[in-house]
Amino acid sequence: MMRLENRNALITGAGSGIGQAMAGLFAREGAGIAANDVEADRLTATVESVSALGRKALALPFDVTDLKAVQAGTDRAIGEFGHIDILCANAGIAPTVDFVDMTPEAWDRMIKVHLYGVYNCCKAVVDHMIERGHGRIIITSSMSAINGDIHLTHYSAAKAGQVGFARALARELCGTGITVNVIAPGLTKTNILGEVDDEVIRKYEPPIGRIGQPDDQAYAALYLASEEASFVTGHTLQVNGGAF
Ligand SMILES: NC(=O)c1ccc[n+]([C@@H]2O[C@H](COP(=O)([O-])OP(=O)(O)OC[C@H]3O[C@@H](n4cnc5c(N)ncnc54)[C@H](O)[C@@H]3O)[C@@H](O)[C@H]2O)c1
Repeated sequence: MMRLENRNALITGAGSGIGQAMAGLFAREGAGIAANDVEADRLTATVESVSALGRKALALPFDVTDLKAVQAGTDRAIGEFGHIDILCANAGIAPTVDFVDMTPEAWDRMIKVHLYGVYNCCKAVVDHMIERGHGRIIITSSMSAINGDIHLTHYSAAKAGQVGFARALARELCGTGITVNVIAPGLTKTNILGEVDDEVIRKYEPPIGRIGQPDDQAYAALYLASEEASFVTGHTLQVNGGAF
């Protein structure tokens, strides 16, 4: 029995890393995938791998910071698939910079991608989920939200904001059939590590003895997307190999 049969997921940042792994795993579990990324060319591989499994696949290139584009993309996915049951608000960036050198522009972009991005994606899909009486919202935050990371004050603030947002939205939507949860990955082998300072990487090498893989995060998201997690809401699941 597949765990996401007759479900469709909208996944942001699905052209790479954790989002791409979520797309592949959710498709293996039966879901149709609306795959978003700001880098349109990255979506080809994701969409091809989902289609190869015989699942519905749609490439949705847009920037999550642009509410109009997010709404148009979400409406297109709902139009083509009939319904969206799962939102993985996962897109992210992590350029490191010392706080003393941080420009207002760098701060602004970080807040835009992670907080406006999550607001925009939830806003675009939540009425539809309320109408259907079912929804799973999963936000990819970070262990930076909890620990605070050096050279990543803007990222840590934005990721902590996602946790507060998710807890509040989860409580507000209780009783609608929608759950809202967070995964907080520790170091995971994806392209984003190219943006992260070596000092941060050394500091958070997981005690479990290996770095995380995108599938480690995707399996956590799969649980939160499943029917079995219908009593779990407002939770932050730390998937970090013991690197607290
Ligand atoms: N890899 C890690 O160690 C790690 C740790 C903690 C949290 N995270 C979080 O996991 C999430 C996924 O990151 P990843 O590690 O897979 O990195 P990644 O770089 O492999 O993938 C992120 C994807 O998001 C896309 N993206 C960036 N800005 C976007 C925007 N404005 N609109 C749409 N798409 C956008 C990128 O183009 C990229 O394809 C991010 O939110 C990141 O902060 C990652």
